[in-house]
Parts: sequence; structure tokens; C-alpha cells
Amino acid sequence: MPKKLDYSFPKNFLWGTATSSHQIEGGTLNDWTIWEPGNIADNSISGIACDSFRRFKEDIALAKKLNNNAYRFSIEWSRLEPRPNYFDNKVLAVYQAMIDECLRQKIEPIVTLYHFTVPIWFAEAGGWENPAAPQAFNNYVTYLAHNLKNLKFWCTINEPGLYAFNAYGQGVWPPQRFGLSPWWKALNNLIKAHRLAYQTIHLTNKRCLVGIANNSQAFEPASPNFIARQLSTWSKFWVNDHFFKKTANCHDYIGLNYYFHNSIGPGKKPKITWRNDMGWEINPQGFYQVLIDAKKYNLPIYILENGLADAQDINRQKFIEEHLIMVHRAIQNGAPIKGYFHWSLLDNFEWKWGFTPKFGLYEVDRQSLQRRPRQSSRFYAKVCKNNGF
Ligand code: FCB
Repeated sequence: MPKKLDYSFPKNFLWGTATSSHQIEGGTLNDWTIWEPGNIADNSISGIACDSFRRFKEDIALAKKLNNNAYRFSIEWSRLEPRPNYFDNKVLAVYQAMIDECLRQKIEPIVTLYHFTVPIWFAEAGGWENPAAPQAFNNYVTYLAHNLKNLKFWCTINEPGLYAFNAYGQGVWPPQRFGLSPWWKALNNLIKAHRLAYQTIHLTNKRCLVGIANNSQAFEPASPNFIARQLSTWSKFWVNDHFFKKTANCHDYIGLNYYFHNSIGPGKKPKITWRNDMGWEINPQGFYQVLIDAKKYNLPIYILENGLADAQDINRQKFIEEHLIMVHRAIQNGAPIKGYFHWSLLDNFEWKWGFTPKFGLYEVDRQSLQRRPRQSSRFYAKVCKNNGF
């Protein structure tokens, strides 16, 4: 008799891992590639990354070893459309092969169309500030929607709000635009881009699910103080809800990534007792709040990213357990959560932080690029196999 599980998950729950093109593929040529030299924390560039564009079969096999029944990866727009309106069929064939390989392994592919990197021509034309940006994105989406006929699960944009803020608001990511006006323009064009993409995909693909991955965060007032409460509610709206509100009726599911908890406003901030290698607070209770709050949308919820930088793999198993307990609790309390994707399958290029943070269930040797399972991956594999723990 198998041991009774303490936390069992609904039938057909999706258990997966997530990655993105620029972070793992290697050899990409986009706005980040141009910007990276001199701007990356450990003085590195994305370069060959994990060489996954060539090793994708090996990587999907790794997801299979984890008993994943779903895998989230992204398409590199700059590869597929290296010049405006010129689509590279050979590149399309590789992404089609990735999807087919997943399906062959009985892994549901969830494909992100845009995960922080844009083609150089798009960036040079003004990037997301250009009023023509949503239409340019929609051309690319149209091409994909016509061609990827067996793809069910689409994620148009990864973390649009966070991206607009980092790239166009505080200007710490390319194109390093700083200010309210660039931020507002970029954000609104991302909103338009998602709306258009949603319609485009639905026009050609009848049985599809389309959404985004929002960077959803937990917010708590630092004290019962009125200002603290107002600021916390306001921040929560802007970070968690604004994009969904502005794109209402253009989501078949609520896709969210969870990494952050914030104690907001005047008052004594609670002492942070658990952090990852990057200093980010780890706060599973906040995850519960975010999930319960997402109930209000009355749509299936998919957690498209959740994970930690933990080079020594000391905290990862505990992190997964504690976060999954919150997912389980939220489901018990009525949140229609249908899947969980751990970030990440592999150690990869962590944007401004370079290769230093280690998010992978598999460790990647930077010299040989060999993948080795971390201890915690065995735990996650069991969870995925047993649909609980
Ligand atoms: C998320 C990004 C993802 C990865 C994780 C750590 O914000 O979507 O690409 O960098 O953070």
C-alpha cells in the first residue's frame, strides 16, 4: 500500500518546471545581448548560456526525469523574426520540434512568446514606447498562431508590469529608460499587445488557453497605520491587478509567478528570517495571500514560476514543501489552482545578476555545461510522481 499523502493535489494537476529562451538557449542576438557587456554583475554575458537551443531534447528528458507532466519554455522572438516581417522557417521548425518532443513525452508544453528580450530592430525602432509596438508584436504572434497548430497552452508576455518598470520606469534593464512617461507608454503598449495577441491566437486556434505570467507579490502594511494600509492596498493593485484589469476578458487563466513579500509603509518592519542567496525574502504565507486573492477572477490559476537561488541546495526542498503547503491550503479554501511550475529546471542566466544565482533543480557546470541533479530535485520528482507529498 502506498503511504497516505499529507498533501494530495487535484486530479490532472500540472507539475512542471519553467525556463526562458534567453536564459538557457545560448547564442541569442537581441537587445540584451547588445546591452550585457559591462552591465552584468559577475562580469559575464549570456553567451552560450546552457546551450539549450541545441540540447533541448536532453533538457526535456530532464523534465521527464522529474516526472513533470508540463514544461514551460519560451520562444525567442529575435531568432524567429531577425528582420521585420522575415520569419525564419528553420527556427520555427526547432520550436515545433520542442513542442512535439514534449507531447511525445506526455509533457504539456506551455509556451511564452515574450520573456523580456526583443529583436534588435524592434528595440532600435523605440521598443515598447513606439506606438507601433503592439502591432509589430502581433505580426509575430500571427505567424506563430498560424503555424503552431498543436500548441494548446500560450503565455503571451512574462511579467509585463515588472518588465515595464525595470526597463522603462527605473531604467535598470535595457533600454534603460527612466521616468514616468516612458514607463506609462511601455506599459500601455504591453497591455495593447496582450489584447491583440489574445484575439489573434483565438482566431486561428480554437482549443487554446491564453494568458500571461504576472509577477504577483504579497503586500502587508507594516503597521495598522492608515497610510501604511493605503500604500499597501495601492501597491497590491498596481503590481497584482492592474494588468489583469486592463486586459479583462483576455485571459483564459490567471498565470502568476511568486517570489516577493513586501512590508509596506510606516511602521516597524518585521525581521526577515529567511532569505535566498540573492537576499530576497522567502515568505510562503505571502504566497497563500496572493493565491486566495486571485480567486476573485473566477478563472483557473496556474503558478507559472516559483523558486529560489540556492547554490548549496540547503533550502530548496524546504522551500518547495512550504510553498506547496500554501498551494494546497489555497486549493482547500477554494482557489482553482491547476498547476505549479518550479523555477527553474536548470541553473541559467539570471539577467543583471549573471550566472551567479543558482535557481536550478539541475546544476549546470559552467565549463562542461553538464547537468547534474541537485538533491532537492529528487524530492520534487517524488511530489510530481505522487501528485502530492
Ligand atoms: C522572474 C523571471 C525569470 C527569472 C526569475 C528568477 O522574475 O520571470 O526569468 O529570472 O524571476
